[in-house]
Amino acid sequence: MTDAERWLQHEQRQQNRIAENRERGTPARLEERMPISLCQYFVLHTEEGAWLGRKYPRIRADGPDGFELSSLLAPDMLLGLFRDMAIGSGTVDFFYTPITRRHAQQIFAHCTAMRSGEIVFPFPALDDRFCELVCPTDYWEGASLDGERLAQEEAHFRQACQALFAARLAPRAAVFDPACSTGDFIAGLARGDPRLRYAGSDISEAMVHQARARHAATEVDFAVADAGSSQGPCCDALVLRFLNAEVVARCEAEQYFRHLSHRVRPGGLIVVFGHTPVVCPVRWLCHELALNIRSALESTPDGRLFQFYVVEMP
Ligand SMILES: C[S@@+](CC[C@H](N)C(=O)[O-])C[C@H]1O[C@@H](n2cnc3c(N)ncnc32)[C@H](O)[C@@H]1O
Repeated sequence: MTDAERWLQHEQRQQNRIAENRERGTPARLEERMPISLCQYFVLHTEEGAWLGRKYPRIRADGPDGFELSSLLAPDMLLGLFRDMAIGSGTVDFFYTPITRRHAQQIFAHCTAMRSGEIVFPFPALDDRFCELVCPTDYWEGASLDGERLAQEEAHFRQACQALFAARLAPRAAVFDPACSTGDFIAGLARGDPRLRYAGSDISEAMVHQARARHAATEVDFAVADAGSSQGPCCDALVLRFLNAEVVARCEAEQYFRHLSHRVRPGGLIVVFGHTPVVCPVRWLCHELALNIRSALESTPDGRLFQFYVVEMP
């Protein structure tokens, strides 16, 4: 059996346990022994309380990988009222009081209607020794990202950015994506709203080469640059879609956020989101840097939620 098959079996067992716990309705404990699965747990904070949730892989009919873990959270992923968490050697126990699917739907509907709440993933991606799993920089040099699939996976983020920028940015305002990868995201924004100016950079030469080739006909200024360098454009809207699990380590994500926030002009915006969980404590950083969080999540028309921080510069 391959590692992926073993993992999918583990995921199925956890789903069965979650279903049994929901059925019983009494306080529940869910033991997690698979470190790589820990980054699927999330806590949804609302005015009513903190709710424990867990993402699970969906089997793909069409993809070569066999499964996908979407950034979109559905109500049936909400397990219940979060009580506690205990870490032992090689295990993490989650304690919660299960809620019905109907209650979970109501919580999601409230977050959607009020655009309130925050989704936090307590764990980054972890290897078997419980160390952070991060792609090495040269991974991106050699990576042949499936542009179409990436664009599809990020469609909800692009729509949310587009709506936000259309409402908040003046003509000629500058939008900057400092880890633009294939360039599809920033080029998609540029095609949607030609009133604004767009720049994208990436540490990987191969990615920038790909971005320039894919979007030669689109008005985006692409450059090779490390997001942590002291060079780089100032902007009115900063798009941070790389402070995520598997892309950067937690401590690096914090440093990038602090560093890049200085590039944003007064009154400008920072948005933070990503295909994998956001790994820096955005709320805490905003508190430290005296920035204003306007909202922390967004929803799709069919009622699924995703992390989407909108931060305003004073
Ligand atoms: C935008 S992120 C994640 C993209 C997509 N969501 C995914 O799942 O693949 C990936 C990009 O971040 C870039 N990146 C990572 N660290 C960077 C850094 N310090 N400066 C600029 N780009 C960086 C990588 O080269 C890569 O192209």
